[in-house]
Amino acid sequence: MCGIAGVISLGEVAERLVKCIHNLEYRGYDSCGVAMVNGGPQVHVRKNIGAVGEVSEKERFSTLSGHTGIAHTRWATHGAVTKENAHPHSSCGADFSITHNGIISNHERLRSRLSRDGHNFVSDTDTEVIVHLVEDYFKKTNSVEKAFVAAIRELEGTYAVAMITSHEPDRIFCVRKESPLIIGLGADANYVASDFNAFIDHTKRVVFIEDDEYAQVTHDSHSIKSISTGEPVARDVLELPWDSEMAQKGGFPHYMLKEIYEQPIVVNSALDIDEERIRDLARQTVEKTLTITGVGTTFYISQFAQYMFSLYGGATPLALSSDEFRHLAQMGKESLVLAVSQSGETYDTLTALRHAQKLGASTAAIVNVMGSSMARMVDSLILQGSGPEICVLSTKAAMSQMIILTRIALEAGVIRGVISRKVANARIKDLRVIPETIERILNEKSGFIHTIAKAQSHINHWLFLGRERYYPVARESALKMKEVSYVHAEGMPSGFLKHGTIALIDEKMNSVVFMPPKEQKELYDISMSSVEEIRARGGYILGIMLEEKGKPPAIFSDVITLPKAPAFAAPYLQMVAAQLLSYFTAVTLKRNIDRPRSLAKSVTVA
Ligand code: F6R
Repeated sequence: MCGIAGVISLGEVAERLVKCIHNLEYRGYDSCGVAMVNGGPQVHVRKNIGAVGEVSEKERFSTLSGHTGIAHTRWATHGAVTKENAHPHSSCGADFSITHNGIISNHERLRSRLSRDGHNFVSDTDTEVIVHLVEDYFKKTNSVEKAFVAAIRELEGTYAVAMITSHEPDRIFCVRKESPLIIGLGADANYVASDFNAFIDHTKRVVFIEDDEYAQVTHDSHSIKSISTGEPVARDVLELPWDSEMAQKGGFPHYMLKEIYEQPIVVNSALDIDEERIRDLARQTVEKTLTITGVGTTFYISQFAQYMFSLYGGATPLALSSDEFRHLAQMGKESLVLAVSQSGETYDTLTALRHAQKLGASTAAIVNVMGSSMARMVDSLILQGSGPEICVLSTKAAMSQMIILTRIALEAGVIRGVISRKVANARIKDLRVIPETIERILNEKSGFIHTIAKAQSHINHWLFLGRERYYPVARESALKMKEVSYVHAEGMPSGFLKHGTIALIDEKMNSVVFMPPKEQKELYDISMSSVEEIRARGGYILGIMLEEKGKPPAIFSDVITLPKAPAFAAPYLQMVAAQLLSYFTAVTLKRNIDRPRSLAKSVTVA
């Protein structure tokens, strides 16, 4: 899981190249490097461990001269974080240089063979075999293109590769299989990159490369061919709807906060998605047996959808974590698998979809990134339109997914006849209140939530509890707390607590309880009994609830009271409060908020 970039122009490209990998740092940031051809017999490579800013200064990336370059920011999968393992990797003669994202599963076999044939390996990476293979075939064919294709044909696994060589200094060779790679067409330069964020400052015109296709990119042209047949492939140029300003922080200290603040807009975009698209997908969920899948946050969002389908849609679908999907999925032609993914590139979810397709199931996806692998492989697609999400943690994209899935569940309920159109419309009306209520939470409650976060920042263990639809919100909120603050947090159903975990409750373990509104009386009462159980054991309890008549119950240690809103809107609003709690805890603990340790935005490996 790494970021790849390449720039080719008639002018110097080093500075642009550095900016490109800077923009891709959320994909990985343990080491980075740049390779450039500049007329000599060898490709020049500079690389080291550390983040782009630091390494680029130390290795003086911007002083590398050349019109054709590739660069890489790494998130280690094979081999430790060392200078040798950083990309780009070079051939023995230093005439070829390669960057790679993915995993070459037959690398050990290839490495043994190439070593026997005299190739000298200097890293522990799977990537290095690719460049030696190309070098080997080049000696036999004296054609870079033939050598590149022959080498790629030998690879097993997943890859996006960009290559430059001193033998053909005016082009970048690239290929992809199950790892993202796109071409950007600029006014004075062309680009290749793992995603558009790399070059969004320069162009919005993109061309997607599909699996098992390779491309050659020059400063003013590009061509795509099939790896298996060698035939040219025609592909449309697309115009991306996002601009670089949208992808920048816009005055916020962190992308996470900016993206939390963008949620009112994102909810409106999700509510504005064409009704016919929602109806079409809802119809499919009714006609087939539905499984919803995602991983991490998107699994919890899938679980939220499971409750919404059960409560309003007239049937309970399976919600499977995509990393476990293939161990559980029993399906065939009668099934529909609905994947949920911000990036559309998550390996586990892509693998689940492929598995489902193999079993004959129909597939659908709710995805934020247009043109992503998932967006292109499914039978039915809903694009979220949430705009770029740059912080490694998913906030606004998850909110949008909750809204879209709720709309589908309500529509499924209408189709099945378990709720009337009038009821569905009334619930949609409730959702329409969410944007302005989020605004109020952000304006009126952030200060109080920050105070709580500061006061409780010495606590190392948190429980997040909820029942019914509030349960997945609790799990998602615990995940947010863990990943951004590095504080241990567990999300579970409130009713589950007394079956073991309650033994942990003491003054060192805090609990957050997502309280249903009082009009859900039975649920409210039963949630309160969990609060009593915690209180009896001396634990701190933070309640998150909507403002209702009367004072909040005194049993809570602290209460985040959210502005009055329809009961149906409660879980979405509570999630915003919990996002802020995690954010301010991480700020207090001085964490690396947009790029927490060990995490990457787009998890494209198994
Ligand atoms: C958590 C988070 C991850 C992702 C997961 C799936 O904040 O961002 O848990 O939700 O890696 O990613 P996508 O949605 O891109 O498929």
